[in-house]
Amino acid sequence: MAEEQPLSKVVNDAARVIAGSNYVVALVGAGISVESGIPPFRGPGGLWTKHGEPPMDGYQRFLADPATWWAERLADSDSLSGLLQATESRKPNPAHHALAEMERTGLLQHVITQNIDNLHQEAGSRAVTEIHGNRLKLRCIACGACFAVEEFRVDEIPPRCPHCRGIVKTDIVMFGEPIPADALQSCEYHTRLCDCMLLVGTSAVVYPAAEFPIIALQQGASLVEVNPMETPLSELCRATLRAPAGEALPLLVERLREMKNERREERREESDGER
Ligand code: APR
Repeated sequence: MAEEQPLSKVVNDAARVIAGSNYVVALVGAGISVESGIPPFRGPGGLWTKHGEPPMDGYQRFLADPATWWAERLADSDSLSGLLQATESRKPNPAHHALAEMERTGLLQHVITQNIDNLHQEAGSRAVTEIHGNRLKLRCIACGACFAVEEFRVDEIPPRCPHCRGIVKTDIVMFGEPIPADALQSCEYHTRLCDCMLLVGTSAVVYPAAEFPIIALQQGASLVEVNPMETPLSELCRATLRAPAGEALPLLVERLREMKNERREERREESDGER
């Protein structure tokens, strides 16, 4: 294992990689929302670590009896999964805001998030693909149409799509459910374009998301990791920021801002020198 380097040094290394890239994509996991009070799934304090992984056939159970699934969901909000309860009334933290600022300043082209908590959008990110869905949305399993939970009136069980009468479910991707085609296509599209992938708060063990960094590497892209713990991808990264995302990402944005000013200063001096 490489010797631990001071955070300021690796922040500088990471900033150089990102500033030298043309198409940066962030692959984000549960770790980014830990500082917003939402537990991760694995590792210390993880939901699955505490309660065990849920059954892998959640989607097949839903398809077998969607009416019961909905009746339970509507009758007793306590039946809401620990994850949904944990995401209620949570706010984005400095890590979410840092990614939104990187997007605004053109340093980040897209976010692929595995999180369903909607905190990227609440922090101002716009270029976001939610590979596992969004807790505030519903989706028709026939035509793929999406609806905001708060705007959708449930007047029959299971709810039906107003466009095609297909069955409507939460937009959150259940275990055993295929990733919706539009989301997968968007992830593959941005992954194929990237020359740098920023891995933030993901254990990188769940597929297909865990495949995107490998595809990026194979096409010559650089990987940069932000995670207090080592992951299976750490050794493949050009820089690893071993710190919580809420601490590391604002430092990274600050260093990128300084580098931009330094370059501007250099250019000004050069043009003054030519006069
Ligand atoms: N900042 C950055 N990373 C953190 C922080 C933090 N403050 N706290 C924890 N982490 C890291 C952990 O070290 C771990 O590597 O975040 C990672 C969280 O890993 P998981 O809990 O496995 O979450 P994720 O990678 O998003 O899981 C993928 O698995 O269960 C499914 O659908 C679920 O989307 C989820 C998918």
